[in-house]
Amino acid sequence: MSDTLDLPVLSDAAVNAAGFVQEYVDPTLDLFEEIDRLKREKNAVLLAHYYQEPDIQDAADYIGDSLGLSREAAGTEADIIVFAGVHFMAETAKILNPEKTVILPDLHAGCSLADSCPPDAFAAFRAQHPDHIVISYINCSAAIKAQTDIICTSSNAEHIVRQIPEDQPIIFAPDRNLGRWLIKETGRDMVLWDGSCIVHEVFSEQELVRLKARHPEAPVLAHPECEEAVLRHADHIGSTSSIRRFATENPARSFIVATEAGILHQMQKDNPGKTLIPAPPDNGCACNDCPHMKLNTLEKLYLCLKHEKPTIEMDEAIRLRALQPIERMLVMSAGIK
Ligand code: 13P
Ligand code: SF4
Repeated sequence: MSDTLDLPVLSDAAVNAAGFVQEYVDPTLDLFEEIDRLKREKNAVLLAHYYQEPDIQDAADYIGDSLGLSREAAGTEADIIVFAGVHFMAETAKILNPEKTVILPDLHAGCSLADSCPPDAFAAFRAQHPDHIVISYINCSAAIKAQTDIICTSSNAEHIVRQIPEDQPIIFAPDRNLGRWLIKETGRDMVLWDGSCIVHEVFSEQELVRLKARHPEAPVLAHPECEEAVLRHADHIGSTSSIRRFATENPARSFIVATEAGILHQMQKDNPGKTLIPAPPDNGCACNDCPHMKLNTLEKLYLCLKHEKPTIEMDEAIRLRALQPIERMLVMSAGIK
């Protein structure tokens, strides 16, 4: 080997400061084949959220929304769970599977919504409402789950809120937009934590109204993390999986989609003849990508599986406290799609 060329080190791969394994990858390698081989050799399962880049979705064993992914994680017999999503999702898989290795291609794939609810501030907030039970959206850290009575996702939130006795006051955290939508749908007055998702708050009502005027035939499909001003123009509001289902089951030929752009990949595969129009954002760059979700790449995924890192680790006391509200959610939403 040349002494003069500055070639990358190929062994002893370590997770770098940026939170992923960095190693030279031969550009001629078929990453899909390599990922498949490694999955078989290591008895690993690859779970991917709809907001992952198309290549990752195509490599996955299961693609789904947060509820589907939690169910898959709870039921898997694999030894390794490769989670192609963001940190709170991989953390949920670890909470459910302490004995398994759970890896995330980029440890810094976080979530602005989860970050908007710091554990100490949330503990102080709860202390102001001691008679309230806490329902938290799954998009929160393990430390918040550990302070929660019942976890929910956008697929089962309404169903879960409706099961709480009328006289039981509720704190809903951390997403204020989902919380407001639930209040409207269920008529329950809940105390809301003031958190939000940067991706779903970027849609412009004005641009959406203009787009609707140009495509009056296209139903608007929106995720409940969007602001009320956007939701009021929606024909269907629901989780990523319900948005996907709606586009297939509805006879319309075109749809305006107000959620992260990654969902369009499966929707287009399901409906090759239909037109999917992303709702316009207000950020000047016409981009509906979640910057956290998109930190994962196929190459990082390959390296993560190859080296079995970075792993998700957590304090056992927090894990045990966080497990209960997730298990309650799984029981309370059995049968929900
Ligand atoms: P769902 O896929 O459960 O609807 O969640 C959307 C989301 O924002 C995940 O981060
Ligand atoms: Fe978090 Fe929003 Fe990204 Fe989902 S889309 S991971 S809620 S920042």
